Amino acid sequence: KNIRWDTVQAEKDGYKHFMLKEIFEQPRTIEDTFRGRIYPDEGRVYIEEVKLKLKEEYIKNISNIYIVACGTSYHSGLVSKFLFESFAKIPTEVDIASEFRYRDVILDEKTLVVVISQSGETADTLAALRLAKSKGCQTLAVCNVVGSSISREAMYVIYTHCGPEIGVASTKAFTGQVTALYVLALDWAYKREALTIKELKKYLKELWEIPLKINEFLKNAESVHDIAKVFANKRDFLYLGRHINYPVALEGALKIKEISYIHAEGYAAGEMKHGPIALIDKSMPIVAIVIKGRIYEKIISNIEEAKARGGTIIAVADQSDKEIGNKSNYVIYVPETDEFVSPLMTVIPLQLLAYYISLILGCDVDQPRNLAKSVTVE
Ligand code: G6P
Repeated sequence: KNIRWDTVQAEKDGYKHFMLKEIFEQPRTIEDTFRGRIYPDEGRVYIEEVKLKLKEEYIKNISNIYIVACGTSYHSGLVSKFLFESFAKIPTEVDIASEFRYRDVILDEKTLVVVISQSGETADTLAALRLAKSKGCQTLAVCNVVGSSISREAMYVIYTHCGPEIGVASTKAFTGQVTALYVLALDWAYKREALTIKELKKYLKELWEIPLKINEFLKNAESVHDIAKVFANKRDFLYLGRHINYPVALEGALKIKEISYIHAEGYAAGEMKHGPIALIDKSMPIVAIVIKGRIYEKIISNIEEAKARGGTIIAVADQSDKEIGNKSNYVIYVPETDEFVSPLMTVIPLQLLAYYISLILGCDVDQPRNLAKSVTVE
């Protein structure tokens, strides 16, 4: 009997699409990105990259950070702003590369410019990197592709160890970037004496436990499929988050736009009353990230406002949250995490929701129309 051997199918490892495979790979790719770099019990971080020999003296004197990227990488930059500010106490701005390169940004040699790029080839990000270098800034790249243009041209590089990402909609690259930046922010926080060893150990342990928690959640991926079946015919979605999960709301909305061609907006939940609340009616599903943390009560009152106006709330909430079932229409429960590491967890159901809706609608999941995996022209 002849066996037909389809190489693409083999690379998909039994999954229907690369995107689904890559979503499920995340426990491993996150671990690959932190393995050998963090030691939670000892409270040690080692980042022994050839191109990451930033001197301790320099780290102590960084006056501010500019993070520059495009697309999903921009969203991981937005997440890491919270980490550099809250952990390392470094003022941090995040900008879209195509905007950054045409502004009169105030930069000097004490500014560190961090560019984030999965491919390392995005034209606008590369141009932003070159601009930063021409202004005398130190430059650091977070890249997935070894030897890519951006990794070669940046002064320092930290690699995410995600392996090739084939699906056009980025998934494991996002969590890899957040992981790498989380490790960097903690390392610098400790070197700048902004965190105690006890705090450092605690936050390292939180990261260490994430792959297990994601694995646990992925066992129930089908529950997200059930929710996707209910909402796949909607024309518009609103995604709400606050604090470090605000960028995750943006990322969730981006995923659904990219692969399902459904209009979606990501919004900071507290800003909803200044506009998007006018859009809410019975036909508007609202995906809200409401995990425990400093703004929990605030976002709860935001979703109550949305529900009072007829919106259907799909909450992404902690398993331990006993109240959320009464305050929302649907709940996707995720294992509990510290708020600073939570984006690695909360983004997973949003990736799955976009995936399943795209699947139900019969869209081309891995190669959505009009999009490219890496945009090497301006
Ligand atoms: C394209 C891709 C996105 C990606 C963005 C930035 O738009 O479709 O998935 O986030 O480029 O790519 P980069 O390789 O620089 O991270």
